[in-house]
Amino acid sequence: MITEILSLSQEALEKAERYILAGEVVAFHTETVYGLGANALNDKAVQKIFSLKGRPADNPLIAHVHSGFNIGPLVDFIPEYAVALQRAFLPGPLTMVYPSTAKVSSFVSCGLNTLAIRVPSSKTAQKFLKKVDLPIAAPSANRSKHVSPVTAKHVFDDFNGEIPLILDGGDCDGGIESTVLDCTGKDPVILREGLITREMIAGVAGRCFVYERRAGEKPKSPGMAYKHYAPKCRTAYFTFGEQEKAMRLYREEEERGGKPYFLAENGIAEKLAVNGSNIFLLGRTGEEMARNLYAQLRRAEQEATLLIGIEPTLRGGVMAGVLNRLTRAFGIGASEERK
Ligand code: TXA
Ligand code: MG
Repeated sequence: MITEILSLSQEALEKAERYILAGEVVAFHTETVYGLGANALNDKAVQKIFSLKGRPADNPLIAHVHSGFNIGPLVDFIPEYAVALQRAFLPGPLTMVYPSTAKVSSFVSCGLNTLAIRVPSSKTAQKFLKKVDLPIAAPSANRSKHVSPVTAKHVFDDFNGEIPLILDGGDCDGGIESTVLDCTGKDPVILREGLITREMIAGVAGRCFVYERRAGEKPKSPGMAYKHYAPKCRTAYFTFGEQEKAMRLYREEEERGGKPYFLAENGIAEKLAVNGSNIFLLGRTGEEMARNLYAQLRRAEQEATLLIGIEPTLRGGVMAGVLNRLTRAFGIGASEERK
């Protein structure tokens, strides 16, 4: 199969629609990361996503819809705070989990009685979703556990020859996946942190909790149990206080003839660069670090033999999501049994 990369045009949209109606999988740009989409009403099409990605069968998918789509028939109940959150943040990088009416394929939610719905703001995503006028099940368009894609080229690198079309909308400005918010209870609970922060949600809903799995408990958002976002090169991770150790490891790798790189926020990088070391910059603000993270991890696997991550010092807002992805890319914090 030839994998075409097409920018937004009438012709591209018509092709995308034809593939989706035929049960094929089409990758598309969103404002967070690229998605790998299929008709959420078609069992076989949804199953194709799992086999293409090598995704565990118990990790549910998000249904994507355009901003005029009536989600009423798909969900059982929308609490008042969720209506306010929809008004405040949609379309945008917020995925909301509702009690499901089980109208979409049972493979989307992997047997859970809930459905995650997202209304992306990206122009490419909106035009595509309007054209098909269907709920589109879509995970991030990377192989399972690999770094999420923030350019069409990243998608191509993972799925060349296996999907017919990538709808190219350029770089993803958000850079990390949407916030996943459980809206099935009395108060909203964040299952995956992202660009819409706890502070922003609490500002509208009054309260907002962040789900923390207790030891031994089945995770509410199954995806969060897996090691994820990992670059293919060797990695090591240090806190800011462990700089000496990090420098030593860097030098050892150089002496062995390898090509080490640091991955660090700009302020730290300025200090590490004293002796002209190789550095991938994360940025200065939380938003910058979110935007740069996956692109830098993908560069690292092309150029570095060893990537040495230094924990950013910045906290608050989007940093919760950035630190979550960063530590998991370096294999820290994912539950051992699921790696
Ligand atoms: O920004 C995004 O959300 C991107 C773009 C493509 O829209 N999509 C994405 O999908 O990140 P994926 O499959 O990589 O991550 C979906 C997350 C997983 O952690 C999954 O477990 C959780 O959402 N999820 C999906 N349905 C759920 C449900 N019914 N209840 C709880 N968690 C759910
Ligand atoms: Mg993913």
